[in-house]
Amino acid sequence: MRTIKIFDTTLRDGEQSPGASMNLREKIEVAAALAELGVDVIEAGFAIASPGDFESVSEVARVIESSSVCSLARCVEKDIDAAAESLKSAKQPRIHVFLATSPIHREYKLKMTPERNIEAVRESVRYARRFCSDIEFSAEDATRTEIDHLCRIVETAIDAGATTVNIPDTVGYATPSEMFDRISNLMNRVPNINNAVISVHNHNDLGMAVATSLAAVLAGAGQIECTINGLGERAGNCSLEEVVMAMRTRHDVYNAKTKIITQKLVPTSRLVATVTGLKVPRNKAIVGQNAFAHESGIHQDGMLKNPTTYEIMLPSDVGFQKTDLVLGKHSGRAALADRAKTLGFELDADQLTKIFSEFKKLADRKKNIYNDDILALIEQNIHEQHDNLENESWSFVEYNLCCRTAKEPSVVLTLRKNNRHYTKEISGGDGPIDAIFLAIRDITGADVSLKEYSVQSVTGGQDAQGEVTILINKNGNTYRGYAVSTDTIEASTVAILNAVNRICQSAELV
Ligand code: KIV
Ligand code: ZN
Repeated sequence: MRTIKIFDTTLRDGEQSPGASMNLREKIEVAAALAELGVDVIEAGFAIASPGDFESVSEVARVIESSSVCSLARCVEKDIDAAAESLKSAKQPRIHVFLATSPIHREYKLKMTPERNIEAVRESVRYARRFCSDIEFSAEDATRTEIDHLCRIVETAIDAGATTVNIPDTVGYATPSEMFDRISNLMNRVPNINNAVISVHNHNDLGMAVATSLAAVLAGAGQIECTINGLGERAGNCSLEEVVMAMRTRHDVYNAKTKIITQKLVPTSRLVATVTGLKVPRNKAIVGQNAFAHESGIHQDGMLKNPTTYEIMLPSDVGFQKTDLVLGKHSGRAALADRAKTLGFELDADQLTKIFSEFKKLADRKKNIYNDDILALIEQNIHEQHDNLENESWSFVEYNLCCRTAKEPSVVLTLRKNNRHYTKEISGGDGPIDAIFLAIRDITGADVSLKEYSVQSVTGGQDAQGEVTILINKNGNTYRGYAVSTDTIEASTVAILNAVNRICQSAELV
């Protein structure tokens, strides 16, 4: 059985998903989770893109040991210099240079002849080899490149020293059989093909990214580029969890395995959903809440008789827990720590103290505490840690809200900062959340507008917690906030403050 390398680009292409930007701490946390998951390569960013990107690639390179760390670069010397510099402290550095090769990109974007296109690849790969021995070259828009030209590009890149050559379906256009033919063609026609690993990087515009990646494996590709939860430009990239579980479950077809520790897929997916604010749809394959849920009587009957009637994978193989009950007000710290551990989170003493106190408050409001409730508390704690919600940040104290049909709402809101309380009374707004938002703007002085607001229930039942995610705008930038509570108004207030604190922090950084 062949071992296929998993190249994760959640921190680079994934971060290019609209609304998915992550701060430095979040990127380090995701990188650590990816290394634990067992990915072979972590693409940490595009070092030349911004000082923030440079810093995050450098930090990921410094802390990650077990996976290669990679930075993207155009075929331009200053890009390659920045990538090399950002990877200076990496144990296993990789420089990833790319250039578009298709006629449409050559003509309209690059204004390059085919000959110049080939020469640029040779020069850049050679230049990158001066800094590091692990070089990946990507032929952007490879699936719309003339096959003869692509063969020459691949041969040139390998000849110049590329150790991996990537054949991206940049616009998500290829069908699985076309991808199979393209990779087979390269395998048969490029004379030095055995001196490099052939990789694919498929976008999901037609919903075929996983299928085209698997077709490439059948044709001989040795690396798949993918992202957690399928994040990425536009409709996203090939989803890591899906492609890995397809190879594992259908090894009879693909004759391929990976080094991914599949039991960590669900916790990693949750972490990425939490830090990016891009929630996983309930029916998402492998990691969605419903992926192993059985509703119909016939299915439930079959499951009780033999789970293989309706399940092709074990939920525990991807990190789902079977038990979904019951911690309550009499449960202690050890039980909470143990449950957090089975859910994939190792809490340190401070985190446990904080989450345990929130857990006790929740247990007073809610009879049964489910795994999803505990996950929500942990996620909120992660957000608070990232935003350093100490004294210098705004925090919620209390509200008093009055609403009536067809009347303006009014609210008295109290917040705290630096151990001082600030209270404001406001009448106005389109509804209770808008009134709260106006009061927060008044108290904090943050000149912001609400871009998106969503609330969903964490579990079923009348006493379920509401999970609020918001996006707010300030000077063209978008900031995310997140909170959970059995009281949705309180969760909304805390989520808005969460985002306001992020703005304050980034203002301090500037
Ligand atoms: O989609 C693409 O072609 C890319 C390359 C930079 C690999 O993201
Ligand atoms: Zn891409």
